[in-house]
Formats: sequence, structure tokens, C-alpha cells
Amino acid sequence: MNVFGRSISPSKLIVSKSSSHPKETVLSGIQPTGTLHLGNYLGMVKNAVAMLEKYRCFYAIVDYHAITVEHDPEELKRNTIEMAFDLIACGIDPKKCVLFVQSQVPEHTELSWILSTVASYGDLQRMTQFKDKGEHQEFVSCGLFTYPVLQAADILIYKASKIPVGEDQVQHIELTRRIARRFNQRFGELFPEPEPIVNEALRIMSLADPERKMSKSLGAKHTISLTEPESEILKKVKSAVTDTGPQGKEKSPGVANLFLLIKLMASPKLLKELEAEYTNGTLQYAKLKMALFEVLMAELKPICERRAQLDETSVRKILREGAERAREVAQKTLAEARELIGVGPLV
Ligand code: TYM
Repeated sequence: MNVFGRSISPSKLIVSKSSSHPKETVLSGIQPTGTLHLGNYLGMVKNAVAMLEKYRCFYAIVDYHAITVEHDPEELKRNTIEMAFDLIACGIDPKKCVLFVQSQVPEHTELSWILSTVASYGDLQRMTQFKDKGEHQEFVSCGLFTYPVLQAADILIYKASKIPVGEDQVQHIELTRRIARRFNQRFGELFPEPEPIVNEALRIMSLADPERKMSKSLGAKHTISLTEPESEILKKVKSAVTDTGPQGKEKSPGVANLFLLIKLMASPKLLKELEAEYTNGTLQYAKLKMALFEVLMAELKPICERRAQLDETSVRKILREGAERAREVAQKTLAEARELIGVGPLV
């Protein structure tokens, strides 16, 4: 009997590097640290939705990652459910994937401990997210330092090979590859080396400060949340930082960011027209901003409508069922990893 009450006889344990599923496996995660913003949506969620038909997908709301910095427990509980609302409304259809909350699948944290023994201390020290988040903090938790190992466990426990993420997460996926490789070399082939799937929206910048990535941690002024009132969005778009006017081929960061957003959501025809005006030096930025506002609202309105139709009881049920389905796979991989490292069941 293993710790989860399941009987696994070592002789029956078949260790396979790729999952036995006919489709390739996709996994991604998002922290429930506030409502979903445009950077998350364009950088990761849209890609994750596009992968639903072709792959076997696992999408996790990673609450254990969110506690690596100071947090309010009540807010975390609320944000976890709200994030599920946001994801489903964006098209993460729970009938086509496994949507779950990380802490409800405790195998992630157990595998994380195992992987921490093959993760290099030096590699973790080089993680830029750790440096950024730890900088200027009075207290830096060990959890913040080992955060990427838990991320590796999130991925490897499903033997996922494709990971839709924004550019800021690529370094963590590369680390996951190294961890998988070291585990396989030391104990036997178990994990595939996952690849990051990054689209053109690799880095959406803040409209208020286009030199910095749009991020919840910068504050409300710097993000556009998908469920924000239209009047607030209009205000933020209108006050987006630009420059003194089209000045040649090289766009300033603010203008480049507005063009990127339009490119990701508007018709190619509209983009071409605006690009042509920019090149001619005739483009009024007020026009560019209004064009962005319109495409943005066309994209966000259906999401808000879908969100309003969801009810909390059903969302909680989706998450409970998702965790059950995720655990079936996670328990199998964990048993394989335990056996390989020599802590199999005491039969
Ligand atoms: P998180 O919660 O910070 O962000 C979720 C996803 O959104 C992307 N993203 C962006 N993309 C483009 N432009 C932006 N401004 C922008 N801001 C955020 C992120 O790259 C990410 O893909 N460590 C991860 C969560 C995680 C995870 C995983 C991801 C935990 N386990 C396993 C993949 C696989 C994080 O903090 O994402």
C-alpha cells in the first residue's frame, strides 16, 4: 500500500518516459494573484485555448506558487476561484482539458522534493524571476528560491512535453529540462524534456510604463484586467505612454506595444492601414489608441458575457473533478519516480 492507499506492486510498475496517452501532453499554470490581465491572456491563455483540440491538456491554478511571497489567506481563496472563472470564460473548456488547483493534487509537492535533490543550487541562483522578486525585500523565503523546482514538478508529473507560456517563464522551462535530464541520467528514463511554446505576445508591456512587463505586482495602473469596467479600460488606453509622433522606422517602446496589441487582436487589414500611416508619418496616436480600445472591447466583451453566466457551485465542481482526474495521472508518475529512486512501497 503506498501513502495514497493504493496498492502498487513493484513488478507491475511499468516506467515509461512518454505518457501512454496517444496525444502529446500540454501543461501550463497560472498564479491566482489577482484577476487575469491582458499579458496573461495574450501571452499564455490564448495559446492554451488553441491547444485544446490537438493535445491532452492540463491547466493548473498554482496556489502553492502564490504563497512564496507575502499573501492574504482569504484573498488567496477568493482569487483561486475567480481565476477559474476567468480561465473558463476565456475558453479553457473543462470538457476538453483537466482544469484544477495545484494544492488539490499533493503529488506535485512530493515530486518537487524528489526533484530538489537533482536540481542544482547554482542553477536556482541564476533564475532571474527569483532575483527580481527577491530584490529589495526584507524577507526572502526559501519557497521563493525553490519555486522553479515546484514548477518543474507541475510539468513533469504529467510527463508534459509542450508548455504554453510567456517569455518570462522560458528560463524556468529550460531549468525543468535540465532537472528532467539529470533525473533520467541518474535513475533511469522517466521524464520527457518539455519545450516552451511562446507566441508573438511573448512580452506585453505596461501601458503606463512600456519599459516594464505588464504584471500584477506593478499595481493596477500597469495592467488591464479582462473584467475591468469599460470606462477604466478607456482611461488606461487613452493615457498610454507614446512619444511625440512617428519619427522613423524604429518605434518607441510604448508605440510598439500598442501596435503589438493591435496585431494580436485586430484584422490584418486594420493593422496594415495603421502601419502605413505610421510609416508616412501621418498617424495620430489618438486614432491608434481608439483603434486599440475598439479591438480590445470586441475581444473582451464575449469573455465578460461568458463569465457572467458561470455559477460558483459549478466552477467548484469542475475544479474538484479536475483534481481527481489530475491525481490519477500524478499518482502513477509519482509511484514510478519513488520506485526509481529507491523509496518504493515496503512490501
Ligand atoms: P504567472 O502567473 O506570472 O503568469 C501566467 C502566464 O502569463 C504569462 N505572462 C505574460 N505573457 C506576456 N506578457 C506579459 N506581460 C505576461 N505576464 C504574464 C506568463 O509567462 C505565464 O505563462 N511560474 C508561472 C506559473 C507556473 C507555471 C507552471 C507555468 C507554475 N507552474 C508550470 C507553466 C508550467 C507564473 O508565475 O506565471
